[in-house]
Amino acid sequence: MTRSVTVSVPAKVNVQLAVGGVRPDGFHDLANVFLAVGLHDRVTATPSDTLRITVEGPDADQVPADRTNLAARAAELLGARYGIAPDVHLHIAKRIPVAGGMAGGSADGAGALVACDALWGTGASREELLALCAELGSDVPFSLVGGAALGRGRGEVLTPLEAGGTFHWVFAVADGGLSTPAVYRECDRLREAAYAERAGAGASGGASTEHVPDPEPSPALLDALAEGDVVALASAVTAAGGTSNDLQAAAVSLRPSLTGTLEAGAKAGALASIVSGSGPTCAFLAQDGAAAAALAEALLASGTCRTAIPAPSPAPGATIV
Ligand code: C5P
Repeated sequence: MTRSVTVSVPAKVNVQLAVGGVRPDGFHDLANVFLAVGLHDRVTATPSDTLRITVEGPDADQVPADRTNLAARAAELLGARYGIAPDVHLHIAKRIPVAGGMAGGSADGAGALVACDALWGTGASREELLALCAELGSDVPFSLVGGAALGRGRGEVLTPLEAGGTFHWVFAVADGGLSTPAVYRECDRLREAAYAERAGAGASGGASTEHVPDPEPSPALLDALAEGDVVALASAVTAAGGTSNDLQAAAVSLRPSLTGTLEAGAKAGALASIVSGSGPTCAFLAQDGAAAAALAEALLASGTCRTAIPAPSPAPGATIV
């Protein structure tokens, strides 16, 4: 009889994050090119008297151990759907940066869902699990499936993408996290300000869907991904003098020190430097595994980040170990 189930779940990086206007429901339509990376949290589910969360890892104290934790919400949601009391101890071994723009919370939600599903023997289909993931958060379905995928809608409508090779990254982890809603709000504020400047002082509505182009994936970026061509991917990520991450300016505006981190990576030979999702983790593309290891050392020595972690992509989604 199964007494506990452990699930390994990957972090993600967004090779492209095209953000549309703010929708009436407050979310933003996205063209979100997700890549799962080989940096994992592990969620272990064990029967218990009551729903309980424990966390281990260097940043464990920054993770809520109450019912606001996405892992707890996943257990409650699955339990409610199948008429099972969610009396389970969820232990999270945390390696993904907390509030870092790498979907660490989403990973724990997807991991808890898969672990509880196996522990309770609910027999939920993949489609049901994906629907529950989408209820938990925009990035949670991708944490379940992993690999490479295009996310539309608010990021939860996934189409698998081909990745023709391994891409090597370094992730520079900052001190402290950034709130995802705050970064989206800052993106809207910057767009409003730019619109008012163009249209004349006092103009408003510049962050709404009618004024922001529909988010579309970059064909050059998808080709580079499919071909496993790291040099082409790097140039697609940094095309037109900016980056493929529309949240980058907002993250840098809220955390100006990220400019120094991005510059340190570029100086140390990164093929591309980009903020990961809503930040503040910065992601750097390297030619191969050896270059990634050297880049991680150089970033650490630059003093512009707390830690620098090399990791390959793509990686599989949530997997029972
Ligand atoms: O879906 P999730 O709970 O991860 O989203 C967190 C917050 O990020 C939302 O409340 C919203 O403020 C912002 N968000 C957004 N548009 C998206 C995804 C997230 O504005 N597509």
